[in-house]
Amino acid sequence: MTSTPTAPTRTPSPVETGTGRSVGRPLDRVDGTAKTTGAARYAAEHPHPGLAHAALVHAAVTRGRITGIDAAGAEAVPGVLAVITHENAPAMKPPPPVSVLNLSSLASGSSVNYLNTDEVHWNGQPVAVVVAETPEAARHAAGLVRVSYRELPATVDFAAEEGNAVPQKSSALQSGGARKGDAEAALAAAPVSVDLRFTTPPYHHNAIEPHATTAVWDGDRLTVHEGTQNITWLRDHLALRFGVPVRNVRVVAPYVGGAFGGKTMVWAGTVLTVLAARVTGRPVRMALTREGVYRTVGGRTPSAQRVALGARADGTLTALIHTSVTQTGRTGGLPEQATSQSRHLYAAENILLRQNLVELDAVPNTPMRAPGESIGTFALESAVDELACALGLDPIELRMRNEPERNPVDGKRFAHRMLREAYALGAERFGWSGRTPEPGSMRDGGWLVGLGVASAYHPSWQMPANVTVRLSADGSVVVRCGFHEMGMGGATAQAQIAADALGVPFEAVRVEYGDSDLPSGPGAGGSAQTASVAASLLAACEKLKGSLLALARRSGGSPLRGRRPGDLEARDGGLWAGPAGPGETYAAILARAGRDSAEAAVGSDTRVGKVTGQLRFMSKLLRDRRRWVKAACGAHFCEVRVDPDTGEVRVSRWLGVFDVGRVVNAKMVASQLRGGIVMGIGMALSEETLVDPRNGRIMNPGLADYHVPVHADVPPIDVHCLDVPDPTMPLGLLGVGEVSVTGVAAAIANAVRHATGRRVRDLPVTPDKLL
Ligand code: MOS
Repeated sequence: MTSTPTAPTRTPSPVETGTGRSVGRPLDRVDGTAKTTGAARYAAEHPHPGLAHAALVHAAVTRGRITGIDAAGAEAVPGVLAVITHENAPAMKPPPPVSVLNLSSLASGSSVNYLNTDEVHWNGQPVAVVVAETPEAARHAAGLVRVSYRELPATVDFAAEEGNAVPQKSSALQSGGARKGDAEAALAAAPVSVDLRFTTPPYHHNAIEPHATTAVWDGDRLTVHEGTQNITWLRDHLALRFGVPVRNVRVVAPYVGGAFGGKTMVWAGTVLTVLAARVTGRPVRMALTREGVYRTVGGRTPSAQRVALGARADGTLTALIHTSVTQTGRTGGLPEQATSQSRHLYAAENILLRQNLVELDAVPNTPMRAPGESIGTFALESAVDELACALGLDPIELRMRNEPERNPVDGKRFAHRMLREAYALGAERFGWSGRTPEPGSMRDGGWLVGLGVASAYHPSWQMPANVTVRLSADGSVVVRCGFHEMGMGGATAQAQIAADALGVPFEAVRVEYGDSDLPSGPGAGGSAQTASVAASLLAACEKLKGSLLALARRSGGSPLRGRRPGDLEARDGGLWAGPAGPGETYAAILARAGRDSAEAAVGSDTRVGKVTGQLRFMSKLLRDRRRWVKAACGAHFCEVRVDPDTGEVRVSRWLGVFDVGRVVNAKMVASQLRGGIVMGIGMALSEETLVDPRNGRIMNPGLADYHVPVHADVPPIDVHCLDVPDPTMPLGLLGVGEVSVTGVAAAIANAVRHATGRRVRDLPVTPDKLL
């Protein structure tokens, strides 16, 4: 019998124990100065000799075929280089069909092969692109292109089509319906119940940096500057569409001026800029106008939802029903998991969840910060509040009485769940006990004051990431991974993590990211990027320390001779046997070995390496899913003031208490969480994409008519994180990008209900709905 060696015992590194010097500190972003001084170059700011500029022409009909294009007026504009239409555009390969076996295929925002077809699938679809010496000439000329159409019947009105919705398929990446017991019967039998309909409008992406692309061909090699959330998908997509090898395409995206899901897919502007560069033989830039973003980049789906809750007199939930109808475009789009959070938040005895979908002749919708849960929590958390009113129970108390021990729909364990603690701490800090429950009972001069709460919930997961770490004899460390920086501070966080893992100062670490020539990283989505990169980075640092130790052991005279990795601690720029034990610096190890540097890699970008990495990750994901439910969650506390004469709602105070696992950098995390709350305030009170029900044309495509919150709309926002690591996630991180937007609209609607007695179930809560 052979004995199995036992795993070496290992001293956890400072980054794991939280005793390191960098993780947890509220450090400034490493790219902060470059951004605030204007030194950071965004996609539309790359100068290129001979740069030309492009502008889109949008279809003015909803559905149909182009019967003629008169480009003469546009071509006569001085400086115009080309008017590219389906009549003269070179053929591109069509977008690949979406398949989970080919993750890059998910990048196709739409199946439309722009300018290789005379078909129009939505009002605003690009039908031509004009290239000129200046952006002004291109835009002016684009307005002179005359397009005639043969119109076809179209379906554009979500409200009218809601009844034709069909069941939404669930997928490996999305939660679908669920059924436990007989929820309808339990609802009918419940002594106290609510059965409510909620509607939410479409919302659009309004990142500070509108979508922009600079494309440069050099023979068959293509370089693209674009603020994308997924450089790998974009690179692969462009290689496929333009028929060149993947290695010939480089996507560079060191800075992304906000994205929130809107820059995950590949949209028309990108493809057509690359096409324009190919046709004209010039480097071409296209910066979309705000209107261009609305017409060509999807936003958040509208929704109609039913939430019905039945309870015993003590508040115990006997029935929870949540059904949704959302929309996709006929040529693509994201089916949203609007009932996702309803699988996890309440221990109802009977549960029925169902998601339905309608397809419209509209620009395909796309992820927008917490797709699914943003609108789903509005409905669920409003209904729970209404049930509390019906029961005469405090809404926090009602939640706590139904806080589940295990995942309600299937009995799985929660990897980690601190919602109870979030509410307890929040109630104390916010002064919840000062709330008098009667609607309209709190006033401040002429204002009606209302206080509301709602839960936040967002699933946590992880993606593959390839990382290399190099340590040089001068003590500097370079981390390389093609991840994305949309403003959240990704490079800063990874530098903190590497610094602690290797026991070097934060300042010694440089992180390279945002370039498809780097080892491929995860997309910035699903709030999963930081944890995903961290997992591989930690593994790479362990490998690196292992090889440095091996180097030390091979050479005579090292105090580390005979030491095993498990005995050692990384600190003070080297490896040491415990706090007082012998050891030496990395510099000394490298010097003795006659080496300039040492490097370690996790993952590989060879074809085999990619497939293996992907399979390993998918199997881990599925294994974890069978065992655990992982999520970030939180409790929102909101105070509003409502003017009873005008219906004006002002958010006057906010506290969010979150369980996001370990906090790598309190400053960046707070800023992410605040941003989500601001986005939620917009969703609740002012944002709404208005679609003409006759022709599907977006009527308010710009910031003049689509109202995002400005500073004057946003009160000081207090956020607090419980900062307890999740035991099942890399470094204990649950993700912070999306959780805080969830629940916000409900907290506001609940506060408005408390202030006025009015329950608004149709977002946004505009003054007309309160008068
Ligand atoms: Mo996000 S909606 O995963 O960028």
